[in-house]
Amino acid sequence: MALNERTLGSKTSPLVVSRLGLGAMGMSDLYGPADEAESTATIHAAFDAGLTLIDTGDFYGMGHNELLIRDALRSSGRARGEVAISVKFGAQRDYAGNWLGYDARPAAVKTALAYTLRRLGTDYVDVYRPARLDPNVPIEETVGAIAEMVEAGYVRHIGLSEVGAETLRRAQAVHPITDLQIEYSLVSRGIEKEILPTVRELGIGVTAYGVLSRGLISGHWQADRQLSAGDFRGFSPRFQGDNLEANLRLVEALRAVAEAKDASVAQVAIAWVLAQGDDIVPLVGARRRERLTEALGAAELVLEPADLAAIEEAVPQGSAAGDRYVAAQMAHLDSEK
Ligand SMILES: NC(=O)c1ccc[n+]([C@@H]2O[C@H](COP(=O)([O-])OP(=O)(O)OC[C@H]3O[C@@H](n4cnc5c(N)ncnc54)[C@H](OP(=O)(O)O)[C@@H]3O)[C@@H](O)[C@H]2O)c1
Repeated sequence: MALNERTLGSKTSPLVVSRLGLGAMGMSDLYGPADEAESTATIHAAFDAGLTLIDTGDFYGMGHNELLIRDALRSSGRARGEVAISVKFGAQRDYAGNWLGYDARPAAVKTALAYTLRRLGTDYVDVYRPARLDPNVPIEETVGAIAEMVEAGYVRHIGLSEVGAETLRRAQAVHPITDLQIEYSLVSRGIEKEILPTVRELGIGVTAYGVLSRGLISGHWQADRQLSAGDFRGFSPRFQGDNLEANLRLVEALRAVAEAKDASVAQVAIAWVLAQGDDIVPLVGARRRERLTEALGAAELVLEPADLAAIEEAVPQGSAAGDRYVAAQMAHLDSEK
């Protein structure tokens, strides 16, 4: 299957990647146990399908995700330059996985990068970004430190994650920003008002995460699914009680649209994000080959204006019940201020 390319940061610091990226987070963290052999096979299958962007964070399994990617890249036989690796840093966590805040001071940037390069077994990352705005550090200092790492050859492009319009402008004034990584899906459309127009004005691309709202709008979510202790969805407001019931009703409305297109719910949800602009690259969080194959099918799905209208009717803007994070984590989102 050929995956056409999209250019992130076309006017700033261009990076050409496949139009779907693979998000590897769930292979190490936050969505319950993952099977390492199947994760590796899924990464290989993604590369074989022409996917050239893989996203990770140094805090996904506290280094586990980066080591997994290193090994999968090596055993795939691909050259380092065939795949762009995007890495987030800054989230502070303890051994139990508790969230302790963010550290994006210049010294922390450079130290975290050094560990990441060792773990990935490479001497550069394609995109390096703070996972969240550190409230104690001006964005100019964080981006300035990454810019020094670009200068030194350890980083190719600078990205940001979950920041708002003002932070984007301040960051861009220090160094060209390639992409903003942010949650964007049929049920998380907050970026449309101010953030999307701003990145477009500045020429910054978007890597969209949570395009299936963490599996909620995948069409596979079962209300009685048993979740392990650390599973994000065990806490996420959208997966609880009445919210979950209301959200799954939206999924059933979407299923009717999908069936009329001979597609799956997940494919329609991913294709909807793809249809929002050539400057957006959805990250798919598949952890198994079967799910990856389904997700890749979205790249083949053409949504006509009538389909987009039917989708909008099934899942109107703002119809999701519940916030996308618990209150403590919402407070860390510069993008929501
Ligand atoms: N910058 C940030 O703040 C941030 C935050 C979160 C994630 N991310 C990045 O974005 C990536 C994607 O996020 P996400 O994993 O939350 O995305 P997502 O696509 O909304 O959710 C992925 C989950 O949906 C379920 N699913 C069901 N059918 C699927 C299908 N056909 N294809 C893919 N997934 C399917 C799977 O859960 P089960 O396997 O459990 O069924 C999968 O783990 C992450 O891996 C990470 O790299 C970034």
